[in-house]
Order: sequence, then structure tokens, then C-alpha cells
Amino acid sequence: MRLMSRSVEPPRVLNIEDLRRAAKRRLPRVVFDYIDGGAEDEWTLRANCRAFEAVTLRPRCAVATPMCDLRTTVLGTSLPMPLILAPVGSCRLMYPRGEEAAARAAGAAGIIYTLSTLSGCRLEDVGAASKGPVWYQLYLVGGRDCALAAIERARNAEFSALVVTIDTAVAGMRERDIRNGAKELLGGKLGAMLPFVNQLVTKPRWLAAFLADGGLMKFENVVIPGKGPMLYADVTAALEQSVVTWDDLTWIREAWKGPVVIKGIHTGEDARRAVDVGASALVVSNHGGRQLDRVAPTLQILPEVAASVGDRIEVMLDGGIRRGSDIVKALCLGARAVMAGRAYAYGLGAAGSAGVARAIEILRTDLVRTLKLLGCASVAELDHSFVDIPQDWIGK
Ligand code: GLV
Repeated sequence: MRLMSRSVEPPRVLNIEDLRRAAKRRLPRVVFDYIDGGAEDEWTLRANCRAFEAVTLRPRCAVATPMCDLRTTVLGTSLPMPLILAPVGSCRLMYPRGEEAAARAAGAAGIIYTLSTLSGCRLEDVGAASKGPVWYQLYLVGGRDCALAAIERARNAEFSALVVTIDTAVAGMRERDIRNGAKELLGGKLGAMLPFVNQLVTKPRWLAAFLADGGLMKFENVVIPGKGPMLYADVTAALEQSVVTWDDLTWIREAWKGPVVIKGIHTGEDARRAVDVGASALVVSNHGGRQLDRVAPTLQILPEVAASVGDRIEVMLDGGIRRGSDIVKALCLGARAVMAGRAYAYGLGAAGSAGVARAIEILRTDLVRTLKLLGCASVAELDHSFVDIPQDWIGK
């Protein structure tokens, strides 16, 4: 662990892009591109980040801010900073017991970790790995009974909110995955795998860790009645048969009984529907540009969503968070907190729990410095007056 943490310390790793490069060095291309890539032309993936670049900051200088208060409250839980780890699938391919490693780092920082349905560690073990709050992200893969069983397990393991992702009617067209032979490598047939295995054998450190962790993960939280955990190769077909609709939200809410967060809101209209079905919070999200390409970047639609729901529901955002100043901009434009996926997945791929801890630390120290330079003493004071947004965003 000490060795791993040294590999992500300064001066080698100063920012999330450094963690990205470190992940690229350690991981086989097929795994790195799964994290790094998006759908089709990856236009939305890039646009999410460009939108943060397009918004500029308006500091108040000659203001002393000896202490900066990063605390916020999400769904009634007090958090030390407005950052939540987003659900990321297949973390066990990135690092041994990847979801537990990420949850441990989140818990140590006191922030929320969201476990994806498409995870390789049992949700009970992930809950136990974190000292902090944990949320469970739900897909209906495997059908309603399977989802109900996972909901029950999540409740017993003290997950405190259910995040329902609504933008995954089919898997997005991830061209990098196809070119890298993800399907062939995961299918387990030696002949089909052969043209692609070079990616794995050229990363012996990763390969040894992967094999020691039991090899190809199964989806331990998608337990098919009479069959056991869903096999990796079965997931794409299963996703297509498991579209979540607004009607499903009603039975999901009744089964869960606790707070429901709807993730995948792209418009003010859907934001109002999230209010109507009784969600407690929503996430303005385009799945990190991994689903429908060419949708608008999340930061750009955040003001529309925030205005359409007011304070009837808590609003969060994900997509493109790479700096603490990105978190500041999202808060200025109406988010209560942000979720970040890739930013910590790069850390996980680079160095396991130590890499995730480093990603959180980078964003936390960025946040403090940005607030001080802005002349703002707390995240609660951030509003539109601290940013300029592009002219053509106004009035949308
Ligand atoms: C899963 O939700 C993914 O984006 O790969």
C-alpha cells in the first residue's frame, strides 16, 4: 500500500490527468479504454469537459478567507465536501477487489461511494469496506425479481439511497471497446481471444493481480434465480432487455422505501418528471458521454434543470469533473454536489485504494485553493455571481 501511494504522490501526480496517464501505463488498453472512452464520436465526452472550460470565474480579490467551509448536505446527510463517487462498472477489472478499494478510500474521506449494479464485489463487502455512507445504483438487468433481491440486500447492508440510472435503454456504441476486442476477451473462447491477448500479456503487473483476484469477475449483485451471479459476457444483451421506465420508478420506490436518486436527466422536462415520481434527488448526467452521443454537456443544461425544479428536489451533476474548479462552477450554476466517475477510476486503475484517495485529495485541495482565490469562504455561498457563462447558453 505504501509503495502504491508513493507512486501517486507529488511531484509525479499533481492532477487527475496525471492519474489518467498512470492508469494508462498500468492497465491493458481494453481496460483503460473502457474507463477513458465514450460513445460514437465521443463528442459529448469532450463537450462535458469543454463546457467547464467555457465558463470563467469572477474572483473577489483582497478578501481574506483563512478558513474555507466545504461542507454540504445531501439527502439529509452532512458531507465534508460536495463530491460523491459516481457508479462505475467493472472496477474489479481495474484493480483487485476494485469496488471495495474505492469504497474504502471514499469512506476514509467521509464521502459517499455509489456502487454500480455492474460490479464485481458483493454489495455487503463493499458496504463493510467503507466507513462512510454508501449508495447503490440500480439497473434492472436480470429482471424485476433480481432487482428486488438486490434492493433487499442493499437495505440490509445499510446502503442509504438508491440511484436509478435512466439513460441506458441499450448500451452506447463504444467503438474503442469493439476495436480492442472487449467482447472476445470477455467471452472466454481461446480462439476468439487470441488476436487481442497481446494487450494483456504486455501488462504483466496488471495480469498477475487480475489472476490472483480470481480472473474474470462475475456480477455478484445480479443473482439470477436458479443460476447464480450473471456472467460478464451476458451483460450487453441483459441491458437491452431491462429498460427502466417512469412506471418502474413507482414500484422501485415502494420496494426500496428510502430516498431515490434519478441519474441521467438531460432536460428540464425530465427533471420535472423526476419530481413527479417522488425522487429525492436527480443527477444531470449523460453517463459521461458513454450513451447517446451529441447530447449537450451537463454543465450547459444545469441552469435549465435547476430553474425547472427549484428546490423541490436536490440537483447534482456529473460528467467532466477533473478539477476542483469544475466542482465550483457546477455549484455556482445550481448543483448541490457533483458526482465524479472517471476522475477516481483513473486513480483506481493506477494504484487501487491509494489512487482513489489521491484523486479525492486532489479535488479537495483544489476546492479549498479555488475558494480562497475566489474570495469565497464556503461552498454554500457560491452562486451565479462567481461565474461568467457563454452568451449563447443564456436563455436556453
Ligand atoms: C456502465 O454503466 C458503463 O457506462 O459502462
